[in-house]
Amino acid sequence: MNPKLVNANQLIGEFQGLIRQAVGAGCKITLRTDDRLWLCHVDPALLETALLNLVLNARDAMPDGGVLEIATQNIVVEEDAVAGCPAGPYVMLSVTDTGCGMSPEVRDRVFEPFFTTKEVGKGTGLGLSMVYGFVRQSGGHIAVDSTAGVGTTIALYLPRAAQGPDAEEEASQTQAMPTGSERILVVDDNEDLLKVTSEMLAIFGYQVSSAGNATDALKMLQAEQDFEFLFTDVAMPSGMSGVELAREVKRVKPSIKILLTSGYAREILERQNAVDEFPIIAKPYRLAEVARRIQAMLHES
Ligand SMILES: Nc1ncnc2c1ncn2[C@@H]1O[C@H](COP(=O)(O)OP(=O)(O)O)[C@@H](O)[C@H]1O
Ligand SMILES: [Mg+2]
Repeated sequence: MNPKLVNANQLIGEFQGLIRQAVGAGCKITLRTDDRLWLCHVDPALLETALLNLVLNARDAMPDGGVLEIATQNIVVEEDAVAGCPAGPYVMLSVTDTGCGMSPEVRDRVFEPFFTTKEVGKGTGLGLSMVYGFVRQSGGHIAVDSTAGVGTTIALYLPRAAQGPDAEEEASQTQAMPTGSERILVVDDNEDLLKVTSEMLAIFGYQVSSAGNATDALKMLQAEQDFEFLFTDVAMPSGMSGVELAREVKRVKPSIKILLTSGYAREILERQNAVDEFPIIAKPYRLAEVARRIQAMLHES
């Protein structure tokens, strides 16, 4: 984790284009944000991934359209006011949908890794377990309020940052959403990250395929010659590493552009003598940053 002082409103603002495209035209989106929101101390890349996971779940719950509301609010939780949440000041970020809702049985299991009610290939069951892990590691709390047939609210309570006098927000920057249409192969053994990253790139217009390990990735690259970009994790437990994959792909198809990612980039790359060989983006990454890097690399000659 790489926590920073984060203004959740700003993060949502930067992310709005992606959220709109993710839920599609069938859903109305409303933002209800507190203008004087406190800062929280969290890893912004992980908050972004968590938010996208919540939004994608809301989209999946509203196949026939509906309303998605994203809200932020300062809240001081009193002792025993919110079950399981320690008393204190929090920034609350909630995502509400008017979708299918959950039965109490489903509701009780949503944070279990691999628990999904979606068909094979659609759900990994890892979204909410990731969100839960992130919130708990940040010292926060997560609350699920859902009624079958009515809708769902998932609220993240992120501890208010203890601000020193020199704590300053990073300059606000609204970024244009990068788009493209090229064929990209994404490889990562972390299923949830693979899914969220692939969905994000597909939302930006790319034709995305994904693989959970290097062997599958090589098979896909051999079966289809037209991939223009490979975005791969470096450290994968089984078989070939991302660096070995990148070298093999480059050998067979020299024109392909390759971007690596890793949670411990430097050490691993140094061990494999690949520091200057391929560009790399450190994990956890900001989704928009990945999209920008990919777009820039596709357009450089
Ligand atoms: N907004 C929501 N509305 C209804 N059900 C939901 C919602 N979010 C999550 N769920 C339920 O929780 C399950 C687990 O969610 P998640 O961990 O994100 O995995 P996945 O989305 O891959 O199924 C979903 O399969 C669904 O049954
Ligand atoms: Mg999900």
